[in-house]
Amino acid sequence: REVDLFGVDCFLLVSRIIIENARITIITTIIILAFVLGLYPVVETSQSASQSKYVAKRIDLCVWWAGETPATLLTNAAPIVSWFKMVPIPGGVFTMGTDDPGVPQDGEGPARKVHVKAFHMDKYEVSNTEFQRFVRATNHVTEAERFGDSFVFEGLLSEKVKSGITQAVAEAPWWLPVKGASWRHPEGPDSNITNRMDHPVLHISWNNAVSYCTWAGKRLPTEAEWEYACRGGLDNRLFPWGNKLLPKDQHYMNIWQGHFPYHNTAEDGYDSTAPVTAYPPNGYGLHNMVGNAWEWTADWWNIHHTVDEVENPTGVPTGKDKVKKGGSYMCHKSYCYRYRCAARSQNTPDSSASNLGFRCVADQLPDRVK
Ligand SMILES: *[C@@H]1O[C@H](CO)[C@@H](O)[C@H](O)[C@H]1NC(C)=O
Repeated sequence: REVDLFGVDCFLLVSRIIIENARITIITTIIILAFVLGLYPVVETSQSASQSKYVAKRIDLCVWWAGETPATLLTNAAPIVSWFKMVPIPGGVFTMGTDDPGVPQDGEGPARKVHVKAFHMDKYEVSNTEFQRFVRATNHVTEAERFGDSFVFEGLLSEKVKSGITQAVAEAPWWLPVKGASWRHPEGPDSNITNRMDHPVLHISWNNAVSYCTWAGKRLPTEAEWEYACRGGLDNRLFPWGNKLLPKDQHYMNIWQGHFPYHNTAEDGYDSTAPVTAYPPNGYGLHNMVGNAWEWTADWWNIHHTVDEVENPTGVPTGKDKVKKGGSYMCHKSYCYRYRCAARSQNTPDSSASNLGFRCVADQLPDRVK
């Protein structure tokens, strides 16, 4: 049976918590009273627009319960929580790619007309909080954890961790394979995510991202969907908000300022990841489509594209690498001018790194959430 977060299941969940966890009984009782006495009758008896803020409050309440209660009670409810942070992306036709590529060898061109049907997309990159709910509910072990290491940007490592590493990537010496690096320990065993639960989850392979989205009843976006959503309704612009790097003299994304890879001045507020909610959203309400963390897409990598007008393209049928989009906090124009909607890069589906995350999409919301 589907969990009804808006009706009786809300009460059942809270009742069980009261019985099984005396410590938070008082708090939950107060919230239940507020819910029963205040919001519930209003929501049940009114459909008018002026009351919709009560609906929103009630949803927040249930999301809070479902998100913060012990996972054993909530194996079924936890994925539903993630549905509330999606926005509708209207169907339409857009100019995918560019005839003025920033990184020509990446196959950014040619500019081509692509039709995309309507879908819903996560407003934010999947955060550590959300990924932790998934792991608690499923005991999922990421590939970085299974392999025992993952790639970390040298500039973020402690001297202790750095001194233990002998190999590096020849063409990108700032990437070091770090033993014990994973989503829980983004810079190796002596690091943690305690103070960045609202930052994008990192060190997640494409395979792990697919597992998360599937668990949540969602899927990864195709590259076309991702790029269409990135553009936020604007045609043929560099960034989700237009062509200016610093609109209104403000930072709209988390990238690298300073001399890469030596010094990040963090003028945008962050020398590593930012909270997934940071910076203004684009025209569709999406945050951090460019910068912060790279995001996986469903498509296999390929740099040759037809100029024919196509509908809902899903990329080439097979390949070695998957497409990632959006660039990251490490991108600087000198090395990685990839914090643009048309930009793209690739990794094998089992790769993970300290600047690579994801968000999910869905064709439609379940009835309960509409
Ligand atoms: C987590 O890391 C912070 C520093 O970022 C440190 O102060 C804290 O003690 C660490 N917590 C744990 C549980 O290791």
